[in-house]
Amino acid sequence: MALFWIRLSLYIFPFLRTVIAASGNCDVAPLSLPWSNVTVSANGVAVARGLELGIGSPNQIFSLRPSTTLNNTRLSNVLDCGSEANTSCVGGKGGVYNSSKSSTCSVSIKDRWNGSAADTETATGSYVYLNDFIDFQSNDSIWGFPLVEDSDLVSGTQSGLPLGQNSSFLAAVTEANVAPSKAWGLWAGDRSLSPIDGALTIGGYDPGRVAGNFATFPLGTWTLQQPCPLQVTVISIMYNQPNESFELLSSENMVACIEPFQDRFTFTPDVVNKFANVTSYDSSYRGLTYPVAQAPDGNMTITLENNYTTVISNSKFVALERGSDQFGHFQITNSSVVETEIVYNAQSDPSTVQPILGGIFLTFNYLVVDYESGHFQLAPAVQGNQHTGSQAVRAICTPTPTSNPSSSSSPPLSSQNKPRKTGIIVGGTVGGVAGLAIMGVLVLLFRRHRQQRRVQELRIEPSDRGAQLSPNVLSVTSSEEAAHSSPSELPLV
Ligand SMILES: *[C@@H]1O[C@H](CO)[C@@H](O)[C@H](O)[C@H]1NC(C)=O
Ligand SMILES: *[C@@H]1O[C@H](CO)[C@@H](O)[C@H](O)[C@H]1NC(C)=O
Ligand SMILES: *[C@@H]1O[C@H](CO)[C@@H](O)[C@H](O)[C@H]1NC(C)=O
Ligand SMILES: *[C@@H]1O[C@H](CO)[C@@H](O)[C@H](O)[C@H]1NC(C)=O
Ligand SMILES: *[C@@H]1O[C@H](CO)[C@@H](O)[C@H](O)[C@H]1NC(C)=O
Ligand SMILES: *[C@@H]1O[C@H](CO)[C@@H](O)[C@H](O)[C@H]1NC(C)=O
Ligand SMILES: *[C@@H]1O[C@H](CO)[C@@H](O)[C@H](O)[C@H]1NC(C)=O
Ligand SMILES: *[C@@H]1O[C@H](CO)[C@@H](O)[C@H](O)[C@H]1NC(C)=O
Ligand SMILES: *[C@@H]1O[C@H](CO)[C@@H](O)[C@H](O)[C@H]1NC(C)=O
Ligand SMILES: *[C@@H]1O[C@H](CO)[C@@H](O)[C@H](O)[C@H]1NC(C)=O
Ligand SMILES: *[C@@H]1O[C@H](CO)[C@@H](O)[C@H](O)[C@H]1NC(C)=O
Ligand SMILES: *[C@@H]1O[C@H](CO)[C@@H](O)[C@H](O)[C@H]1NC(C)=O
Repeated sequence: MALFWIRLSLYIFPFLRTVIAASGNCDVAPLSLPWSNVTVSANGVAVARGLELGIGSPNQIFSLRPSTTLNNTRLSNVLDCGSEANTSCVGGKGGVYNSSKSSTCSVSIKDRWNGSAADTETATGSYVYLNDFIDFQSNDSIWGFPLVEDSDLVSGTQSGLPLGQNSSFLAAVTEANVAPSKAWGLWAGDRSLSPIDGALTIGGYDPGRVAGNFATFPLGTWTLQQPCPLQVTVISIMYNQPNESFELLSSENMVACIEPFQDRFTFTPDVVNKFANVTSYDSSYRGLTYPVAQAPDGNMTITLENNYTTVISNSKFVALERGSDQFGHFQITNSSVVETEIVYNAQSDPSTVQPILGGIFLTFNYLVVDYESGHFQLAPAVQGNQHTGSQAVRAICTPTPTSNPSSSSSPPLSSQNKPRKTGIIVGGTVGGVAGLAIMGVLVLLFRRHRQQRRVQELRIEPSDRGAQLSPNVLSVTSSEEAAHSSPSELPLV
């Protein structure tokens, strides 16, 4: 209730709002990171598609794939590739880290390290906890950024940029005033044969990429066995051929993770079998690939619980087979075969399969996540190659009504109970103090306040149940690389 009155006073007395905003970090512009081809080897040969980070002094360049299940930034050790000259390996991993090359690297013992404690370790992994300097493509940089050097990353698997609920990356960019808030917006770009770069915006979103209304989904309905925060219930998957449509999802709904770390769809074996059946799949072909003459020609309509519908067009989910060449470049590898953007898991034990709506789903949808508000949002994305400069992005931020920022750094967990950020807020809409406007604001605030209470009621479960569910590490299992080079099942172990 206190927060409610503070916010109310902010709207009624604009001057007060300005004062408080100045002490928060809403003055900081959102941080935009393009999801694009990044050259990750010093000789310019190895290229990986991802979000660019320069780590250490001098910078070592990395290309990381966003991951909603990771909480820490895990990098591959240069020794995993033998040497920096192993370009196919370096490209596949999106860069490798050589700590002895960086004058600012400082190794910590785990207990003293200030990254996120949430990530679990695997028994076989070897982890080094350290802090180093990082640079973004813009001028921004952070000192003492927490990193994990992990020699357990599966060969050919790209490193992930952590966008999980306990992300030390989101914590560091907000604490260093590089981004205004921990909320983020993502368009995955287009990975079809005519590719387009995507973009991740921290502390904001890009309205130029949003083509319709946002649908809102709650966080923390942990019905899946994986630590995946963005879970949705799929109620229908229609495969539409020009002459006939098929429902691929039989009786039961399917709970799936939205996870851009993987490019493809993972459906239940049942759905994949049905798809194989209606597309006359020849199982002598590897994965879900077809001879060009028998390429599936339909599109796919995916409907979520609240009737949010996405049509995945044929040209985006059926394409000539691609894979890595010797430089780690992503190229057509067999022009007589097409592959689908669906993981082939028809033979798998259904209880081991974790459905995923991967990067391809986020080619068609713009995603906005604000963990502190307890929800995330999807809207149809504007596709196509258009200019969206970082000028276009809009902040997602409400001034933090806390004390001055020079005192103790991060707010205590209890403040999490009072969501500070409320979806997408367009700052400065209430400028005047005309009576009518105040009435409108009062109504709005009351409604928002009530919505927040509802959201809080939905957020009862995560930590306790999360512990029981033994959150396994998924960091190492899937990536664009792996998803494309071996079109087989990629279970999220
Ligand atoms: C390159 O890295 C791969 C691992 O991805 C390794 O198997 C191979 O031996 C390395 N090649 C050289 C020349 O070090
Ligand atoms: C790491 O960097 C050091 C210092 O530049 C260099 O001597 C060493 O060979 C590098 N290690 C690898 C595996 O490339
Ligand atoms: C997750 O983050 C919250 C603060 O955002 C922190 O209090 C909590 O301890 C973290 N959990 C773990 C397991 O690190
Ligand atoms: C990331 O943090 C969340 C929230 O604390 C946790 O449920 C999840 O298991 C963590 N992710 C990993 C990979 O451990
Ligand atoms: C980098 O900083 C300089 C000077 O501070 C500024 O003029 C320039 O616009 C900045 N560039 C970007 C991409 O932010
Ligand atoms: C984490 O620790 C490093 C080095 O110990 C320090 O430079 C950095 O400021 C710390 N970061 C945060 C967010 O506390
Ligand atoms: C999807 O396919 C059906 C059948 O071919 C067609 O009628 C419909 O227009 C297609 N929709 C889109 C968005 O491509
Ligand atoms: C519909 O078209 C597909 C190929 O597009 C063909 O394999 C199938 O036999 C057709 N079905 C009917 C009922 O005509
Ligand atoms: C496809 O489904 C039909 C009806 O269930 C079945 O008779 C047929 O054998 C299936 N075909 C394949 C290739 O699985
Ligand atoms: C979704 O659509 C179906 C049929 O069009 C309708 O019966 C149902 O009420 C809708 N559900 C919601 C949540 O809008
Ligand atoms: C990125 O590189 C791949 C080759 O690895 C190329 O096919 C693609 O066109 C490039 N994407 C863009 C947007 O330039
Ligand atoms: C392409 O795939 C087909 C079918 O798997 C195979 O017969 C052919 O040899 C492949 N061609 C190349 C160049 O790999």
